[in-house]
Amino acid sequence: MALSLTVNGDHLASTADPTTPLVDILREELHLTGAKPVCREGFCGACMVLIDGTPRPSCLTPAALADGCEIRTVEGLATQGQLNRIQAALDTSDAVQCGMCFPGMVVSLTHLLATTPDAVREDIRAALTGNICRCTGYERIIDATLLALATK
Ligand code: FES
Ligand code: FES
Repeated sequence: MALSLTVNGDHLASTADPTTPLVDILREELHLTGAKPVCREGFCGACMVLIDGTPRPSCLTPAALADGCEIRTVEGLATQGQLNRIQAALDTSDAVQCGMCFPGMVVSLTHLLATTPDAVREDIRAALTGNICRCTGYERIIDATLLALATK
């Protein structure tokens, strides 16, 4: 069975086994390496992507569940070379340390900005419960998110 995925606006027909984790199709077939398979258990959030607009860990998403869905990875969040609000705010706030967690953080926070424009600190913490930063840079990430929320 051929899988039909739309990734960052591009249509893909894949003959991968339907049980293949989505993160592996993104990285190995499409060479979109932003999503990171770090824990592969759904804990760290480094592999987060938007599936039909909702953040999901792509390590726990079998390709069959993404069939027919609109997938957006961190590579597809900028528009015509312009970083989106959260990407720009994280960049200017020096919030990045090793950067391993950031693709997933950016995906989760992009969703927060789109769905909760009046988010406060507690909302941001709640939005990041599925994202672990091993460098423990949470406060700067939250500050950057507040900056992005204030940037209309
Ligand atoms: S690699 Fe998917 S949640 Fe950690
Ligand atoms: S910046 Fe290193 S894990 Fe988050």
